[in-house]
Amino acid sequence: MTEQIHEQATVTTRTLHDGLLELEDRPPRVSLFSMIREDWRVNSHMKSRFVLVLFRCAHASYNDRRRLTRALTAPYRFVYRLIVDWVMGIDIPCRVTLGRGVVLYHSVGIVINEAVKMGDGCIIRHGVTIGNKLGDDGESYPPTIGNRVEFGAGAIVIGDILIGDEAIIGAGSVVTRDVAPGAVVAGNPAREIARHAPRVR
Ligand SMILES: CC(C)(COP(=O)(O)OP(=O)(O)OC[C@H]1O[C@@H](n2cnc3c(N)ncnc32)[C@H](O)[C@@H]1OP(=O)(O)O)[C@@H](O)C(=O)NCCC(=O)NCCS
Repeated sequence: MTEQIHEQATVTTRTLHDGLLELEDRPPRVSLFSMIREDWRVNSHMKSRFVLVLFRCAHASYNDRRRLTRALTAPYRFVYRLIVDWVMGIDIPCRVTLGRGVVLYHSVGIVINEAVKMGDGCIIRHGVTIGNKLGDDGESYPPTIGNRVEFGAGAIVIGDILIGDEAIIGAGSVVTRDVAPGAVVAGNPAREIARHAPRVR
């Protein structure tokens, strides 16, 4: 039974990530335009493409090293927040580090803490929360997400934890501890139900 689950999980992950893995032969640093093109390619929903184009521009504007450019583009960041957060209900602040080729499914009710760093090729379904936990020292501790991590619908990941490459977070799971690379976790609290060897290069 365990072996069956293991095999199933491996097949599911491989199918889902096949398209995303193509992106791995890319140069390490790319232009804003290339980032947008990669997102466009891996997303089939127009809504997701739209959100990601707006996000990439807001992120680039926030991270511009020239103070004047940052100041001049501040109104755009406000418009981004207005449309994507207030109107569409997707809270992905422009400070968030999203890796290349991120996939948004359904693009509803996603909340990501602004200090989160996420690797390439992750899949984020509706209702996902990736949030911080306040430490006793009053500091905010967000999770760090590896490459090609898949988040099931309604998954909640909180605190100063590390989600390894190609981990799969089951729908509705609550994750408050590190997840090993290639692990499939589910439930509240999330427990490992299978593991496959991640294709880390
Ligand atoms: C986590 C997940 C990838 C596991 O898939 P799988 O490897 O095929 O696992 P199985 O369905 O064989 O389930 C294995 C065990 O884990 C349990 N399980 C699976 N997913 C679970 C979840 N999200 N929460 C709690 N338990 C879960 C099953 O009940 C089963 O338990 P059992 O052995 O006691 O019967 C999958 O269930 C999942 O949640 N995918 C997210 C997909 C999603 O969000 N879809 C929404 C599209 S809109």
